[in-house]
Amino acid sequence: MLRSLFIALSQNRKLRSFSERSAVGRQLSGRFVAGMSVEDALGACERVNREGIAVSLDSLGESVREESEARASAEIYHRLLDAIAERGLKANVSVKLSQVGMDFDPALAERIVGEMVEHADQANSFVRIDMEGSPYTEATIAMTERLAARFPGRVGTVLQAYLFRTEGDAERLLGQGIRIRLCKGAYKEGPEIAFPAKVDVDANYVKLMKRLATFSKNGTGVFCGIATHDEVIVDQMREFVREHRVPKSAFEFQMLYGVRRDLQRRLAAEGYGVRVYIPFGPEWYPYFMRRLAERPANVLFLAKNFFKN
Ligand code: FDA
Repeated sequence: MLRSLFIALSQNRKLRSFSERSAVGRQLSGRFVAGMSVEDALGACERVNREGIAVSLDSLGESVREESEARASAEIYHRLLDAIAERGLKANVSVKLSQVGMDFDPALAERIVGEMVEHADQANSFVRIDMEGSPYTEATIAMTERLAARFPGRVGTVLQAYLFRTEGDAERLLGQGIRIRLCKGAYKEGPEIAFPAKVDVDANYVKLMKRLATFSKNGTGVFCGIATHDEVIVDQMREFVREHRVPKSAFEFQMLYGVRRDLQRRLAAEGYGVRVYIPFGPEWYPYFMRRLAERPANVLFLAKNFFKN
C-alpha cells in the first residue's frame, strides 16, 4: 500500500513543484541525489571512480512539456559527455525519453537522443535509455533498436522483470546484440501486464538474469547490467557465473547512488564490474519518491537524520 502511495505522490505536480523549491526538500533528496549541478555530479563520479566503481550519470528530469525544456535537458547531456571524455572518467549517461519530449513529439525525442548517441559514439561512450512506465515500453525498445542499428554498441535500454512481456523483449534485444540493464521495475503496473507478487517478480528476475549471463558467456559480446540491490539475487548471480564459467568481463552489477554502498564496495573488491547510477539536478522529486516507494523504511531513516542535524 505504501509503495502505491509513494508512486502516486511521485506523479503529483503541485507537490513536486513545492518540494523541489524548498530547502528542506533539497536537503532530504541528498540521500539519493548527488547534488544540483553538473559539477556536483562530476565530483561524485570522481569519488566513486576512485573506489574502482564505474558510473552512469543521470541528469534528473521527466515529463517535460515543451521543446525548449527537452533541448535544455539534451544540452546537459552533451556537457556530461564532453566532461567524461576530458576528465577521463569511467562513466556513461542514462536518459529518460519523457525528459526529451517523448510525451508531445516522439520524433523530436528520437532526434535528440540520436544526437546524444552520435556524440557518445565520437567520444567512445554509451547512452542508456532508462525505462519508464508501461506506456513507454514498446516505444523505448523500438527507438533503441533504430538507434543501435545506426550506432552499434553505443546505446542500450532497460528491461523490467515485473512485466510479463520482458522475456520476449530480452530475446528480441539480445538477438540484435543490444545491451540490456535488467531491473525489477519501479512504476505502478496492473496485474494484466505485470506480476503483482514480489516473489514472482524476483523469480522472473533470476530467470532472466541467468539467460542474459548465458547469452553473454557464449562470446556474443552483449554486455549486460544486473541492476539490483537484492543481496540474495546478487549471490545467486555470483554462484551462477562461477558454475557456468561466465567471465566477469561479460556483465556488471549496477546499483543506485546512496543504496547499499557496502555491497557496491565489496563486489568491486572481489573483482566484479560495478556501476553506480548517479542522479543529479533540481528536478529530483519523482526519482526521490520512487526510492521511498521501494523502501518505505527510508522515510524513518530520513526523518531521524533530519532531526539529528
Ligand atoms: P528490492 O526492491 O527487492 O530490494 C532489495 C533490497 O535492496 C532491499 O531489501 C534493501 O535492502 C535494498 N534497497 C532497495 N531499494 C532501496 C532503496 N531505495 N533504499 C534503500 N535500500 C534499498 N527501474 C525502472 O523501472 N526503470 C529503470 O530504468 C531503472 N533503472 C535502474 C538503474 C539501476 C542501476 C538500478 C539499481 C535500479 C534501476 N531501477 C529502474 C529501479 C529498479 O527497478 C528497482 O525499483 C530498484 O532497484 C529496487 O529493486 P531491487 O532490485 O534493489 O530489489
